[in-house]
Amino acid sequence: MSESITSVLKEDRRFEPSAEFVSRARISSREEYDRLYKESLDDPETFWRRESSELVFREPWTVTSRTKGGGEPASFPFVEWFVGAKLNVTESCLDRHVKTARRNKAAIIWEGELGATRTITYGELHRETIRFANALAEHGVKKGDRVAIYMGMVPEVAVAMLACARLGAVHTVVFGGFAADALRDRIADCQAKVVITQDGGYRRGHVLALKDVVDKAVSQPEAKSIEKVIVLKHLGDRGPQVHMHEGRDLWWHEIVSDTEAGPAREATPVDAEHPLFILYTSGSTGKPKGVLHSTAGYLVSTHVTFKYVFDIREDDLYWCTADVGWVTGHSYLVYGPLSNGATCMMYEGAPNYPDWGRFWRIIEKHRVTILYTAPTAIRAFLRQGDEWPQKSDLSSLRLLGSVGEPINPEAWMWYFDVIGQKRCPIVDTWWQTETGAIMMSTLPGASFTKPGSTGLPMFGVQPAVVAKDPAAPGGYRRVEANQGGLLILERPWPSMLRTVWGDDDRFVKQYFSEIDGRYFTGDGARCDADGYHWVVGRIDDVLNVAGHRIGTAEIESVLVSHPAVAEAAAVGKPDELKGQALVVFVTVKPGHTPNSTLAEKLGDHVSNEIGKFAKPDQIRFADALPKTRSGKIMRRLLKDVAAGRESKGDTSTLEDLSVLAKLRADEE
Ligand code: WT7
Repeated sequence: MSESITSVLKEDRRFEPSAEFVSRARISSREEYDRLYKESLDDPETFWRRESSELVFREPWTVTSRTKGGGEPASFPFVEWFVGAKLNVTESCLDRHVKTARRNKAAIIWEGELGATRTITYGELHRETIRFANALAEHGVKKGDRVAIYMGMVPEVAVAMLACARLGAVHTVVFGGFAADALRDRIADCQAKVVITQDGGYRRGHVLALKDVVDKAVSQPEAKSIEKVIVLKHLGDRGPQVHMHEGRDLWWHEIVSDTEAGPAREATPVDAEHPLFILYTSGSTGKPKGVLHSTAGYLVSTHVTFKYVFDIREDDLYWCTADVGWVTGHSYLVYGPLSNGATCMMYEGAPNYPDWGRFWRIIEKHRVTILYTAPTAIRAFLRQGDEWPQKSDLSSLRLLGSVGEPINPEAWMWYFDVIGQKRCPIVDTWWQTETGAIMMSTLPGASFTKPGSTGLPMFGVQPAVVAKDPAAPGGYRRVEANQGGLLILERPWPSMLRTVWGDDDRFVKQYFSEIDGRYFTGDGARCDADGYHWVVGRIDDVLNVAGHRIGTAEIESVLVSHPAVAEAAAVGKPDELKGQALVVFVTVKPGHTPNSTLAEKLGDHVSNEIGKFAKPDQIRFADALPKTRSGKIMRRLLKDVAAGRESKGDTSTLEDLSVLAKLRADEE
């Protein structure tokens, strides 16, 4: 079988950053980027020492990287970075700032769904972290213990994470939208000792009874490792009735000390490779994988990428809209920004509550300067029309970011024109839960951006687009520019996952067996003549269209470029004649009628843009597409719908089950 992927999307538009942006940028030319990038690969020692010099190390490292139990530099799969260092990440994120003018600078500006706002300064965040860490320590949490955090988007979730880190305990944040069974499984897998939760939170005007879910999870025998449940009173009287189990449950406000005095006043220094957190990510089938991240490597990578990708300045108000339950919330809402002393906007609720203007009002009200969000949100806003953003003053924005999925050029253009008002560069950041930090991105002041491209590798990262080739050394070869192939990372980087919690074999098999001894991302991509990367979709989803292997993102992007289309998902369906038929699911923008005339037009549009061979065999209109709770389209389920079969495998990550039922009903 040929492993190559045909890339059909042609996107030639380029956008240069403005002279004003460039004049103030941290990296202001391609040459400067090239020089730094080269240094990061050729002389990692010098590069990482300089770039981490602001961070707090109790003991400096002696070895930049090595293979676990082996030589330098590190080779896959088991690696160690910054060996010999002793540190506590909270000293970089908090203590170092409270000694400076940043003490009274806002660390978090929070807005609740109902409109309340709170500002937490670095001084306060430092104090609250210590007080809460003292309480955790008093209730038995020690270095290395696992602590589950099941909370919504409230400032205390950052306090909870940092308090664990302060003690050297390993946090595992479970997204507050997950049901009791998902929480139970995660607790059981890592044998968490404590759960931190809250009485409830708001989501789209409804109260989420988080503590109730914890009760359900923890009452099951699989979760018997839990000794204490700590409950933040967030809603208080406005919230649901909370049942406190004698001996097990504790109110957050009752156990925190009055002062900062106590064991956590001094952070617990840990070794560079000490685990910082576990974050579960769902494999397409089977049980979730506990992605394990280490301390020093993770801190250094998130610190450096945050600084350069977001080109952060002292007076920025940076807003990452991701939930803290995802890796984006860990790396670019907590550790990356705080280690840089940045001010973060944090919003509790839904983007469309009470209406689709909410995000834009938040930007206007707080004067947000950097917005980092996901293509799924951008497409949802685009579908609602330009009126919503136009009602607000978005002139404070200077930089936009995208993460989570390939961004279709059409959605990119809308983001650029309507939200950024042609003034703001877009950083399209490619990375994964497993990579810990951004691996590729357009760098905003260094060079032009191209709609849909995730740009250039970050420092120390060596991506390659390859095809398997048994005759070549290593069993693979790089494909030529503009040809599609497997996206791999050829050398270890500081923030890479260290293993799958409790399952080294799965770690090796999952990531290092597709191409022996190289990290396989699971994505297909192409790299163009400028060295810019284009992710074409997950390899598992690649379509076989008339003998061509094409990434889902390319077909979908062509569909989304039609003015009637809001979102599209392309999947293959078994076909006796062709082997595989192309089925596309499409949602339309308001004002357009999904009917056979439109279907015909869309078919012609794909034929014209790609070629007759790619004309979909079936176009199905839908009200909504099935998505994961973090907003990725679940093509696996759509494949089942297209083939008219039941879905096997895990559907617990599906955001809204009724979407799937609706799609199936439409068939009949
Ligand atoms: C997968 C990782 C990274 C934090 C959120 C998602 C896709 C992510 C991009 C991008 C194209 C992207 C990839 C990747 N992806 N960012 N900018 N362009 N694709 O983390 O849930 O671990 O998902 O998301 O397919 O492998 P995750």
